[in-house]
Amino acid sequence: MNKELIHQFESLPTPFYFYDMDFLTKTLDAAKGEAEKYGFHLHYAVKANFNAPILNLIADKGFGADCVSGREVEVAVENGFKPSEVVFAGVGKSDSEINSALDLNIFCFNCESIMEIEVINELAKAKGKTAQIALRINPNVNANTHKYITTGLSENKFGINMWELDDVLSTLQKSENIELIGLHFHIGSQITDLTSFKNLTSKINKIQEWFYSRQIIVKVINAGGGLGIDYHNPNGQIPDFAEYFRIFNEFLELRSGQEVHFELGRSLVGQCGSLISRVLYIKNGLKKNFAILDAGMTELIRPMLYNAHHEIENLSSTSGERIKYDIVGPICESTDCFAKDLELSETKRGDLFQIKSAGGYGEVMASDYNLKTLHPAQYSK
Ligand code: LLP
Repeated sequence: MNKELIHQFESLPTPFYFYDMDFLTKTLDAAKGEAEKYGFHLHYAVKANFNAPILNLIADKGFGADCVSGREVEVAVENGFKPSEVVFAGVGKSDSEINSALDLNIFCFNCESIMEIEVINELAKAKGKTAQIALRINPNVNANTHKYITTGLSENKFGINMWELDDVLSTLQKSENIELIGLHFHIGSQITDLTSFKNLTSKINKIQEWFYSRQIIVKVINAGGGLGIDYHNPNGQIPDFAEYFRIFNEFLELRSGQEVHFELGRSLVGQCGSLISRVLYIKNGLKKNFAILDAGMTELIRPMLYNAHHEIENLSSTSGERIKYDIVGPICESTDCFAKDLELSETKRGDLFQIKSAGGYGEVMASDYNLKTLHPAQYSK
């Protein structure tokens, strides 16, 4: 981070999130450029970060939105996404959420159960509308990622299982206010082993065969999101969009007129955001030294919830003796720890810390626990 920016941060109350909008622009351009080579459609997974400046920029770049609640749909549209490019996923859509999405004429509901299809049909009928839907099918592909963010296995609650598809088709035949336009898949998040996506394409090919043999060709194949980022090398790192899209282009067997859609979250916004925090106290124990920050699990819960690694830098003190610290927050929970035995230059009260790769699933997962104050986010020009 440049000195001028650090100097600017010194006068601000902490903790707050900082977003490098230049870097976000570069990441979005890279993703868009690679996807456009194959005519792929990109939706941004709003759940990763819904701050208005971020949504505005992503919408301006021509992305659609992927939403998982009625509020996300509304906020996406308020911030510039076209309803005709909004997909709405989630295992538990409420009637009022479905109704407001119907009123907005969104592009597609990604449906996760037979009962959900029946409810959307009824609600669309009451409005005299036809709802476009995609079936979220559970492909039973292992994403080799953290078990809490794996979604595509048959033991997960997500999606419709293959053995239910006959019943789904008979439900669809009875549902006059539903139009099946797509098949949707999402196998998990923070996937860095790209062979998982290759495995997904072969599952999609098989599932397409099943539909094809029943004379069904859908227009949209939505391959979800999940492309991971490198939490160990955050600086200037743009995910390998070229290889990711190449895999889908090479291995997906498409029928004529079919479109491929993606729902990327973390890979777009993850590396542009950091949590900026101050050292409140240093505590030298018998066995450990603790650097106690003013940010904790209430601002960034990923390390505590998933044991996730985030690179941490002391922005104020970069020289001097190297000392190991446990970097902890102020919350009354022993799990409130960002890193253990991290070697840093000697750290003092008041030093500014940057916790990196926090643009995705960082600020959105902050909570009011302990009624701590998270200060307004800062954005680079
Ligand atoms: N589509 C669906 C249906 C999803 O469930 C998700 C994320 C995405 C797209 C976007 O996935 P991405 O490209 O961001 O991996 N809080 C966790 C991540 C949960 C992700 C849930 N689903 C974390 O902090 O790692």
